[in-house]
Amino acid sequence: MQIILCESAAQVGQRAADIIEARVRQGSAVLGLATGGSPSSTYAELIRRHREEGLGFGDVTVFTLDEYAGLAAGHPQSYHSTIRREFVDHVDVTPARLHTPRGDATDPVAEAARYDAAIAAAGGIDVQLLGLGANGHIGFNEPTSSLTSRTRVKTLAGATRAANARFFEDDGEEVPKLCLTQGLGTIGESHQAVLVALGSVKAHAVKAMVEGPLSAFCPGSVLQLHPRAVVVLDPEAASKL
Ligand code: GLP
Repeated sequence: MQIILCESAAQVGQRAADIIEARVRQGSAVLGLATGGSPSSTYAELIRRHREEGLGFGDVTVFTLDEYAGLAAGHPQSYHSTIRREFVDHVDVTPARLHTPRGDATDPVAEAARYDAAIAAAGGIDVQLLGLGANGHIGFNEPTSSLTSRTRVKTLAGATRAANARFFEDDGEEVPKLCLTQGLGTIGESHQAVLVALGSVKAHAVKAMVEGPLSAFCPGSVLQLHPRAVVVLDPEAASKL
C-alpha cells in the first residue's frame, strides 16, 4: 500500500487525477468511480484537465461502486444521477459506457450478479477510485463484510444512513435501508486502487485501514492485500498515522 501525504484537499485531487489520467491516456480505460464528498476534488481536477488540457474520456468505460436499492437511475439522489452530476456530464464519457447497478431492479440479487459479471466481461477495472467511510467501509461494504465478497445486496449501517441523510433532507426523504455494492473481492480484483480520504472525521478509519490488522471490521483494510493500492490523504485524515 502506497501512502501519499498531501497538503490540501485540492492536492489530494491532483494526485489522484494524475493516476487516473496516466491510465486514461493509454486508451480504452475501465474506471471504477466512487460517489460521496471525498472524490469531489479529483473529479474537479479531471474536469479541468478535460477542458483546459484536452484530456479525453471518449473511449473510457465507467462502472460505479454502488447504488441505493429502491432508487431508479433518474432519482436525484441515486448514485447514477450523482456520478453524472459530479463528473460524467462534464466530460465526454459516452452515455452507453456509464454502468451503475440498477437500484430499482425487480430482482436485486440477480442484478448484483449481473453487474459483477459485466465488470468481468469488460476486462475488469483498470483504476478503482474509492472513498472511505468513517466506519472503515469502502463502497457500501459495511464492517463485517466478507473480505472476498462479490457485488451483492447489503443493509446500510445506521451510521452510514445518518452520514448520508444530509443529501436526502432537502426533499424530506429517508435514506434507503438497502443498497447494491461491489464486493470487497470485486474491488480487490481491480488492477489499481486509489483511495482518497479527507478530514479528521476519517483519521481513525485511515489508521485502522493502514496500520490495523486485516479485518472485516475495517473493510478498507482489504487494500492491504491489493498489489497496487494507493492511499491519498490530506493532513487531517493522516493525523493518526
Ligand atoms: C458513502 C459511499 C462510499 C463513499 C463513502 C464515504 O456512503 N457509499 O462510496 O466512499 O460513503 O463518503 P464521503 O466521501 O462522502 O465521506
